[in-house]
Amino acid sequence: MLKKINSLGEYFTEYKKSINDPEKFWEKQANSFCWQKKWEKVLNWDFEKPEIKWFEGGKLNITNNCLDRHLKKKNKKTAIKWIPNNPKEKTIDISYKDLHLKVCKFSNVLRSHQIKKGDRICIYMPMVPELVIAILACARIGAIHSVVFAGFSAKALADRINDASCNLLITSDGSFRGEKIIPLKAIADKAMQKTNSIKKCIVLKRTNTRVIMKKGRDLWWHNEIQHANSESSFEVMNSEDPLFILYTSGSTGKPKGIQHSIAGYMVYAEYSFRNVFQYNDGDIYWCTADIGWITGHSYIVYGPLLAGATTVMFEGIPTYPDPGRFWQIVQDNKINIFYTAPTAIRSLEAKGNSFVSPYDLSSLKVLGTVGEPINEDAWKWYYKEIGNEKCSIVDTWWQTETGGIMISNLANVTPHKPTYATLPLPGIQPCLVDQNGNEIKQDSIEGRLCIKFPWPSIARTIFGDHERYKKTYFTAFKNKYFTGDGCFRDKNGMYRITGRVDDILIVSGHNLGTAEIESAIDEHPKVCETAIVGFPHDIKGNGIYAFIICHHKLVNENLIRDEINELVSKTIGPIAKLDKIQFVSGLPKTRSGKIMRRILKKIAQGDTDNLGDTSTLLDPKIVDEIKLSSL
Ligand code: WT7
Repeated sequence: MLKKINSLGEYFTEYKKSINDPEKFWEKQANSFCWQKKWEKVLNWDFEKPEIKWFEGGKLNITNNCLDRHLKKKNKKTAIKWIPNNPKEKTIDISYKDLHLKVCKFSNVLRSHQIKKGDRICIYMPMVPELVIAILACARIGAIHSVVFAGFSAKALADRINDASCNLLITSDGSFRGEKIIPLKAIADKAMQKTNSIKKCIVLKRTNTRVIMKKGRDLWWHNEIQHANSESSFEVMNSEDPLFILYTSGSTGKPKGIQHSIAGYMVYAEYSFRNVFQYNDGDIYWCTADIGWITGHSYIVYGPLLAGATTVMFEGIPTYPDPGRFWQIVQDNKINIFYTAPTAIRSLEAKGNSFVSPYDLSSLKVLGTVGEPINEDAWKWYYKEIGNEKCSIVDTWWQTETGGIMISNLANVTPHKPTYATLPLPGIQPCLVDQNGNEIKQDSIEGRLCIKFPWPSIARTIFGDHERYKKTYFTAFKNKYFTGDGCFRDKNGMYRITGRVDDILIVSGHNLGTAEIESAIDEHPKVCETAIVGFPHDIKGNGIYAFIICHHKLVNENLIRDEINELVSKTIGPIAKLDKIQFVSGLPKTRSGKIMRRILKKIAQGDTDNLGDTSTLLDPKIVDEIKLSSL
């Protein structure tokens, strides 16, 4: 493993180097990996086109770097420590050697079904080791994985399969979540009815849930690997070949297939993992995210494995069998580095300290948070009750599109500051711009957060829609990547993310588009039009507030509320459930027909006295009505 930045001074030196000569800086990092052929050019970029290429001409395979490379020295080291949902079921340690073997075998299974370089494979699985095996098996043969979070509905799954024309689906009979079993294969069956591209479906047995296996299409994982060859040479890939697609919400109803490429993602995932968490050989590291999100891709799978770390993977939920489960796991497995989301922190804080105090958390050195702004209260609770005032808290700001952590302190090396993501990692050049696109140079000021210069793991395109990629990220501000976030910079140059400035809501750390939720609701036969806004929510960060116009006066509002929520769950998934539904007779619109969300947001926040300028509204009276009947 390469050296870590180990002091504040060294951070500033490295940062300076990375800005003065980015190519030299990243070349040095890239040199620590195994390449089949060295790159010819470190960086080629044009934000206007946009086109970004790192390490062009290089040839490699990322699984060679995650697995084979470690076999000499770390054969027996635990790569994955897997903790099942049921606390009575045994924890399983998978060594680097075992993981390598399993990945090789499964990659041969994929090959036996004619899966080849460039094919898209959809993975819809619970948090079990086979999920990681499936991901790495794809990467080994050069197939592009598209993991879909196993909480998504059949329709959401079908949309994602269709968008990328995946030809193989990997799933399981079911998934354990606390006391519940989610019938994943049955959901996948429904999705497959809505797709034509899936030719084969490989099913892992996990819950022993009864499933229907369609002849000629559906195959059991355990049968497939039985006779699979354990030797599998990796496909030699080009640096810029795609590694994976991961869907994220956008400001239209259609999710965006964010596409990452191999070499740059690899270099940055490892670099950021090593430096932010300050991983030392022998540390036990646990990220509680689901691998269905980018956090799991970069900081459960790729970052830790590239660094030769031990990464913990937990199948269950924080509240089963009780809200002490996380802390029990920390104690029993002597976790040193713990990375979770503000929502989890807030909800466990709300359960009370009696679920924390029984456990010995003294193994912890580093705590992390990601996914949404963390409020000061939750930060302090995390620092005191979990970290015993001894652990650095890394508040890591990044996005699906950035591939890795962009702004964060480095654990115990650069200072933390409650509610601040603090400083950019070396190689990352953030800036704030005003509404006209002018860069704001002064400090103690808020602006829109942009990035001025490419970094290795920036998304290269939106699958099948490069125009949308350009429009979403590179047109708002000339020659800059626009993040969609608002941000404050203090007098010491520390960054504090203030939240989205576009039509995306971060709910419990999940990224949801207001348009996506609106179009799901509009499918209800009684609904005419919907406007979704967020409002502050103690646990979830943002709650979802729906203003809905129906065609006729409703006889039983509660029944329709339930029906609408059911529909949202079915169309998107339970994560998009509405917290508040207000039926209205009209929405505040401008003369050009645009909904004035600013006003609805204020009403949703309960701030009805202070609605600002309503003079451009077509019908200002509607605002009074909505105000009066607001919840
Ligand atoms: C959006 C990206 C990064 C993995 C999980 C979410 C928000 C993320 C922070 C943070 C404040 C944060 C931003 C960002 N966000 N991390 N530490 N502090 N806000 O990935 O689903 O692509 O969402 O999450 O608004 O733009 P994502």
